[in-house]
Amino acid sequence: MSEENQSCSLPSNAEPTATRSTVPMWIIVVTLVLVFIGFVFFDRHSGWFDAKVYAPYGSVEKVEAYQPGTGPNPMIVGKKNYEMFCASCHGSDGAGKVGQAPPLAGSELVITKGFHRLAMIPLEGLTGPIKVKGQEWNLIMAPMGAALPDADLAAVLTYIRNSWGNKAGEITADDIKTIRAEIGAHPVPIVGDKLMAMPE
Ligand code: HEC
Repeated sequence: MSEENQSCSLPSNAEPTATRSTVPMWIIVVTLVLVFIGFVFFDRHSGWFDAKVYAPYGSVEKVEAYQPGTGPNPMIVGKKNYEMFCASCHGSDGAGKVGQAPPLAGSELVITKGFHRLAMIPLEGLTGPIKVKGQEWNLIMAPMGAALPDADLAAVLTYIRNSWGNKAGEITADDIKTIRAEIGAHPVPIVGDKLMAMPE
């Protein structure tokens, strides 16, 4: 470095000193206020640090409102009721029992498009010749499901429609209610031919 440059960078007669000026009080206050506001904002927008809450939800209530319905699972309720009211004849495996009851697994009376025909069977009972998987049966089934509440019978039917390889739509309590109203107070086992003539 040249001498000329050195002399230029210093004020004429002052010693260079290092000083510390105090931070003004208002900056400290403003900083604290901003930090506080930041925390509040962060807390609010992440549900007050509840482990269940992530953005974009702001509270546990909002998260819960987005959960799927927490009603009873029809496959669980249905299985329980099926074992109690149907399995003694149709078998826990839905395969039916020779001379006692036809199979539900793979049955065209179970895997229907609509609920009408199927809901009729446990509500009204069934008698007379019917064909299940190509085999004819001519027995009688009492209205085994008539005493069950709508939601429970709906769950049984949803269960048999979606077990043992069966795959078909859910049946709802409202569907059962509709058919129950159609049948009225005195169910008489419906004859196979008449059932098959009904809408699916
Ligand atoms: C006491 C024995 C018995 C019980 C219990 C019973 N069923 Fe049946 N079920 C039968 C018989 C017998 C038939 C065939 C009737 C005929 O030949 O017309 C039948 C037929 C059926 C059919 C139509 C045919 C088929 O295999 O797809 C369905 C569906 C059915 N039952 C569902 C049920 C459901 C659901 C329950 C329970 C709520 C139930 N059954 C309880 C004896 C029974």
